[in-house]
Amino acid sequence: MPPTSLPGATDKRLASLVTLFADNATISISGARIAREIGVSRSTVWRWIEQLREVGVRVKGRPHTGYFLEKVPDILTPDLLRTQLKGSLFAKRIYHFFKTDSTNRVAMELANSGEAEGAVILAEEQTAGRGRAGRSWHSERAAGIYVTLLLRPKISPIQAPLLTMMAGLSAQAAIHAQTGLAPDLKWPNDLILGGKKLGGILTEMYADTSLVRFVIVGIGINVNQERLPSELSSIATSLWAETGRPQSRPQLLARLLREFESDYNHFLREGAKSITERFSKASSYAVGKKVHVANGSESFNGVTAGLAPEGLLQVERDDGKVVTIIAGDITELK
Ligand code: BTN
Repeated sequence: MPPTSLPGATDKRLASLVTLFADNATISISGARIAREIGVSRSTVWRWIEQLREVGVRVKGRPHTGYFLEKVPDILTPDLLRTQLKGSLFAKRIYHFFKTDSTNRVAMELANSGEAEGAVILAEEQTAGRGRAGRSWHSERAAGIYVTLLLRPKISPIQAPLLTMMAGLSAQAAIHAQTGLAPDLKWPNDLILGGKKLGGILTEMYADTSLVRFVIVGIGINVNQERLPSELSSIATSLWAETGRPQSRPQLLARLLREFESDYNHFLREGAKSITERFSKASSYAVGKKVHVANGSESFNGVTAGLAPEGLLQVERDDGKVVTIIAGDITELK
């Protein structure tokens, strides 16, 4: 049986504290009343309020004068998300962490202990966020979206990479709906804006030879990093940097999960074509792009020549031969 709560996951009563504040915005509530209403001691209330302040929730006041919220918080509380996702596959089991090493690591553990399809693992901060090809993923506290979804689709393992491309399409649509920006998709897993990386997807799976047991899809989006660290600023960007103002992470996350669910159901009904056709239209990298391919020990230049049926990228090399890329890094050649 999967656990109902996880070590390190946010206490459900802390989430109720945020809801209590949000429902009584600008009204001062005493520490004693909060303690009574959510069923914890006054010292726990104080500790949790300090924790909320650390992630940028603007709680004003003191235990004796009472506390109030200065502004509706931009944290990804399960309660709020559940309300926005009523009836959705992703509203049932939401695990929230203020801090964890990697939401993909947590999801993998949950999946192995029998957690059902649809579980959502969210973090405000990751200390060992994972990227593709063993890279790390910069996961600044309360600035980005760091989310992993657990799926149990009845598909063959060769189809699993399509879910990475699908997640890219869902993220692209959600970002467009919220900000009006239109990020590009770079095969297989990058969201790109103005030539810089805005987000990425890391899909991991466990499968038998012919059937997938589970797939976890980890999505990272740079949202409210006002500035990125100097070592990343020439290659990465954020929605705040691109739009000049902060964006609501809860709203973007809810949009992303709704898009994802609808794309996922469509894929299960219609098959690979529903993704490859859309991806080919949505990505400037799918056809006719001059690229450098670094593919393990091999690397070469060529022009992209569309997607194979299971979503693999085809590239026509400079010597005229068309090769199918299974895994590799693609860089645009100017
Ligand atoms: C990449 O572009 O290299 C993939 C980045 C994927 C990052 C996300 S953040 C949420 C999830 N948890 C992780 O540790 N990684 C993914």
